[in-house]
Amino acid sequence: MDKSSRLSGFYKLSLAERIDLLEQMADLTDEEASALSGTHGLAAAQAEHMIENVVGVFGLPLGIATNFVVNGRDVLVPMAIEEPSVVAGASLAALLVREGGGFEASSDPPLMIGQIQVLDVKDLPLARSDLLAARERILTLANAQDPVIVKLGGGARDLEVRVVEDSPVGAMLVVHLVYDTRDAMGANAVNTALEAVAPLVAEICGGRTLLRILSNLADRRLARARCRLPAGSLAHGDFGGEQVARSIVEAWALATVDPYRAATHNKGIMNGIDAVVIATGNDWRAIEAGAHAYAARAGSYTSLSNWELDGSGHLVGTLELPMAVGIVGGATRSHATARAAVKLLGVRTASELAQVIVAVGLAQNLAALRALTSEGIQQGHMKLHARQVAMAAGAQGEMIDRVVQGMLEAKIVRADKAEDILKQLTVRS
Ligand code: MEV
Repeated sequence: MDKSSRLSGFYKLSLAERIDLLEQMADLTDEEASALSGTHGLAAAQAEHMIENVVGVFGLPLGIATNFVVNGRDVLVPMAIEEPSVVAGASLAALLVREGGGFEASSDPPLMIGQIQVLDVKDLPLARSDLLAARERILTLANAQDPVIVKLGGGARDLEVRVVEDSPVGAMLVVHLVYDTRDAMGANAVNTALEAVAPLVAEICGGRTLLRILSNLADRRLARARCRLPAGSLAHGDFGGEQVARSIVEAWALATVDPYRAATHNKGIMNGIDAVVIATGNDWRAIEAGAHAYAARAGSYTSLSNWELDGSGHLVGTLELPMAVGIVGGATRSHATARAAVKLLGVRTASELAQVIVAVGLAQNLAALRALTSEGIQQGHMKLHARQVAMAAGAQGEMIDRVVQGMLEAKIVRADKAEDILKQLTVRS
């Protein structure tokens, strides 16, 4: 997309107008546009081939976060999420960051780790050195399993052997196969390679192999984003920019030392990350597992992001975490909406997708901290939450806004209140 993602007033357009605009901006075909709009997303007949015992498909709102600039490129970000305020929060933070040039992001090569657990080994150090000596043989066998990925420049890269001295069942060896998965998330390629080489590993070290599975702590496949914005740009309402910037650093400080706060702080980051991961058909459980394991890598659970004030009055934020996402394979290709979402993002590689996703996580963290350290999140949140409560109470069409207004005026956002207001309005009309 070579057009600006600064779409002022996008939220005021009708659903159809928003889709039309996206179609023009990202050169979407009618089919891709209807996949995004949900009219031709995932059909039950296709879902039938994806998992077992299918009875239908489950919908989630798909919103577009605007204003993002990542590595100098304007990006419209598709986000699949049920929680109000997330898309608006990301768009607002992206707007603030945009004024300072946008997000800078980078990522490691797409290296995944696959593990083979080896038990009943008599001489662990000897087995380790025998395995390392057979490195080339093992890598060659691993690479014979997927000539396509090898042709694309990926495949098994390295072998590492860890001695685990003690566990509830005693000592064992853990073999790590480091595998370049290119533009795929890579679980299938890695697991296939592990299952193929495990008998050779067992033969070389005279042990018994048990687990042969990818690790979701993808710490060789980190992605990172950075933003820098003038403190003054954080001013809003009665809150001065410098005060908000300082408060953001103070709020972040608690997340660095307190797991109770870190869990919520990181949850806010994952609000943004998961929404894009889901929209692009990627495995969000894998991303969640990797993120939280990485947040605990030093032995205690802490913040995934960092915030500081630099010497020139700027607030600087950074975020780094494992980002094992793909743009080929699995639902990323078989799900029409996910395919259209990747096209809208305009990313050409899995690494580029990872970079955008981490930028969205950082934006989401900024939006949450900005709100939490000033007016609080409930004010904005309640308005949107009230819409869901009104709809759950049965309000439709223009009644939704009237029920919402009634609840906000009464300062009671609850199902029973919504039902009362709806009843009164229905009697009157
Ligand atoms: C709510 O979904 C996310 C927040 O709790 C994140 C945070 O506290 O930083 C607002």
